[in-house]
Amino acid sequence: MNILVLGGGGREHALAWAISQNPKCDRLIVAPGNAGIAALAECADLDVLDGAAVVAFAAENAIDFVVIGPEAPLAAGVADALAAAGILAFGPSAAAARLEASKTFTKEVCDACGAPTAAWARFTEAAPAAAYIRAQGAPIVVKADGLAAGKGVVVAMTIDEAVAAVEDMFGGSLGAAGAEVVIEEFMAGEEASFFVLCDGKTVLPVGTAQDHKRVGDGDTGPNTGGMGAYSPAPVLTEALVQQALAEIIRPTMAEMARRGTPYKGVLYAGLMIADGRARLVEYNVRFGDPECQVLMMRLGAQALDLLLACAEGRLAGAAVNWADDHALTVVMAADGYPGTYAKGSAIRGLPALPEDSSHMVFHAGTAERAGLVVANGGRVLNVTARGASLREAHDRAYAMVDAIDWPEGFCRRDIGWRAL
Ligand code: AMP
Ligand code: GLY
Repeated sequence: MNILVLGGGGREHALAWAISQNPKCDRLIVAPGNAGIAALAECADLDVLDGAAVVAFAAENAIDFVVIGPEAPLAAGVADALAAAGILAFGPSAAAARLEASKTFTKEVCDACGAPTAAWARFTEAAPAAAYIRAQGAPIVVKADGLAAGKGVVVAMTIDEAVAAVEDMFGGSLGAAGAEVVIEEFMAGEEASFFVLCDGKTVLPVGTAQDHKRVGDGDTGPNTGGMGAYSPAPVLTEALVQQALAEIIRPTMAEMARRGTPYKGVLYAGLMIADGRARLVEYNVRFGDPECQVLMMRLGAQALDLLLACAEGRLAGAAVNWADDHALTVVMAADGYPGTYAKGSAIRGLPALPEDSSHMVFHAGTAERAGLVVANGGRVLNVTARGASLREAHDRAYAMVDAIDWPEGFCRRDIGWRAL
C-alpha cells in the first residue's frame, strides 16, 4: 500500500522507520520530512494544516493510508477532511482532538466520567483568578486553555508566581490560547506516560515511557519539549496500568463516544503516580516526541499493522507482540535550546553509526546542505537504542552519542537515571 505520514520531526522519522520495515508498505511519502527521513522515504512539500491540500495530494499519489503525526493538523481537522474524502487515516477528528487542544474540555470530560485528576477551576478574567489562587495557596498550577506549544503551563511554587502567570496569560502572552485559564491543584508524585490505541470502542495499550522535560542534568533548568525518554517506565506497574485503564482511559473513551465524538487514534495519557495510584495530568492526541522514538524502536514493523487496525476499527482482534526489551533515546540539541539557537552547523560522524533493529539515529531537526547533515532546529537528533536491559539500551545510545561529531550541540548525560 501507499502510505503518507504527516510531520517532519523525530516522531515522524521513527514512525516512517517502523512503517517502512513492514512488507505491506510499498511506497512511503513523508510531508514535509527532514534529512534523516529522506533516507527511507520520499519527502514532499505540503501544507499539512490544509485539509483540502492533504486530500488532493493523497488522491494524486494514490495514497491508501495517512498517518498524522503532530497535534496541529489534528486540531485543524485534517483527519475529518480525509474521512470525508473516503481516505483511511490514523488520527482523531478535530472534535476528539479537543482532549489536547482544550484543557477545560478535558477537565469537563474527566468530571463527567469520574476520572481522577487535579481539582480545578476556570477563569476568563485576572481578578477572580488571582483571588482563587490566594484562597488555594501555593504550589499551584496555571494553564492556558488552548494549544501553546508546550509553553502554556506554569507550575508555580509561590502565590506571586501564579498571579504573575495569570496576568501574563490574560495580558495576551500566548494569544488566543490564553484567553481562558485553568487553575489546578498541584499534584506531587512521579510522572509517566501511558500510550493506548483506541478505535472508538476498543482500547489497546502500546507501551509506557518516561521523558526528561528539563534541559539540564539532574532535571534542572528550563522545561523543553523533552530531552530524552525510555520505555518501558518501571514506575507504571501492571497494577497501575490496570487502574489507569479502568478509572481514566476507558471512562474517557466511553464519555467521548457518549458525546457523539468517539476517539480514534493514539491517546497519550500523562499520569502522576503517588500513593500507589495514578491520576491524569493531561491527554495528548498524538504520540509523544521523543517518546514515540522509543515506542517505535520496541514495536518495529508491527506498528503499521496496529495503526491500520486502529484506523479500520479492528482493535478488538489486535494484539501487540511484545519482546522483553527496553529502549532509550537521547536528544541532541543545538547550543542555546530551549532559548535561541543557531541553525546550520555541520554534524559529522552519522554515516559510520550502526543502523539496525537496535540502533537508530532519528532526525528531529536536520537539513542537508552540500552533502552534509546540518542542524535545522532546537532539538536536532534522537539517538535511540534498544537492549535486553535498560542499561544495555543506555550504553548503546551513549556510545553512538559519543561517536557524533557536533561541537555546536549538547545532550543530557543522565537519561534514564530514575530507572537505572
Ligand atoms: P501539561 O502541558 O499539562 O502536560 O503540563 C506540563 C507539565 O507540567 C506536566 O508534564 C507536569 O510536569 C506539570 N504539571 C501539569 N499539571 C500539573 C499538576 N496539576 N500538578 C503538578 N504538575 C503538573
Ligand atoms: N515529550 C512530550 C510531548 O511530546 O508532549
